[in-house]
Amino acid sequence: MYKRVFSIAVIAACVFLYMIPAFCQEDITSLLDPAFPKHERPAAVFAHDAHNEKAGIEDCAVCHHVWEDGKIVEGESSEDQKCSDCHAVKPEAGKTGLRNAYHKLCTDCHVKEENGPVSCAGCHPKSGAAPAEH
Ligand code: HEC
Ligand code: HEC
Ligand code: HEC
Ligand code: HEC
Repeated sequence: MYKRVFSIAVIAACVFLYMIPAFCQEDITSLLDPAFPKHERPAAVFAHDAHNEKAGIEDCAVCHHVWEDGKIVEGESSEDQKCSDCHAVKPEAGKTGLRNAYHKLCTDCHVKEENGPVSCAGCHPKSGAAPAEH
């Protein structure tokens, strides 16, 4: 009985979450961050869930990090926030700007893993990934 109520609650929660696009990371197939006042490049390819599965990344905080005193805080994550909430397009001195934040996070790992695109066109294909839905 409890189990049944629980699954109904879970299904209801999922249906509910589906109705709020802002929380559906599985719907993300590309990134075109609206925080940039204008875009020089087409959207970057990034199929959120499929990418992370293929790349074998289980810890959300690998990308959605929390920092304190100049270090990443272990065991905490910030997936409820946008990169642009913490990374300004025009950062203060010594802070990582939004464009660098994306490039460092994405490209550094591809270089380190020797896997995943590292060229401009590899991530920002001319054909243009479908615009992100946020
Ligand atoms: C490889 C990097 C990466 C990993 C790993 C990752 N994410 Fe994300 N995620 C992103 C990026 C980039 C965005 C877009 C952020 C933005 O728009 O500021 C995003 C967006 C989101 C969003 C917001 C969706 C929206 O429409 O605004 C949620 C929720 C989310 N991720 C949850 C998760 C969860 C939960 C995990 C772990 C299971 C996870 N992410 C792992 C990179 C990652
Ligand atoms: C809750 C705030 C917060 C969020 C959300 C956040 N960051 Fe950060 N991030 C920081 C802080 C603080 C630093 C350290 C100071 C700095 O470099 O600006 C940092 C540093 C970085 C660095 C530099 C790392 C290094 O070793 O120098 C990169 C790259 C980065 N963030 C990328 C991202 C990306 C991409 C996202 C979105 C997926 C994101 N961050 C979301 C707060 C945040
Ligand atoms: C922690 C490591 C890591 C981070 C961070 C990361 N990637 Fe990847 N990425 C990979 C690996 C590994 C692959 C190769 C996966 C495979 O196909 O085996 C990959 C593959 C890709 C591909 C090829 C297509 C695909 O989905 O397999 C694209 C496009 C891509 N990454 C974009 C991004 C973008 C954009 C970001 C930043 C928002 C990012 N990646 C962050 C590790 C990472
Ligand atoms: C590993 C993937 C990756 C690679 C390689 C990459 N980018 Fe990006 N880039 C991104 C992501 C993700 C964003 C943030 C989403 C967006 O485009 O709004 C971004 C944002 C940008 C932006 C700011 C937004 C805009 O369109 O004006 C510029 C400019 C840019 N990239 C240029 C380049 C250039 C030039 C290169 C090659 C030297 C390059 N990128 C290589 C993933 C990548």
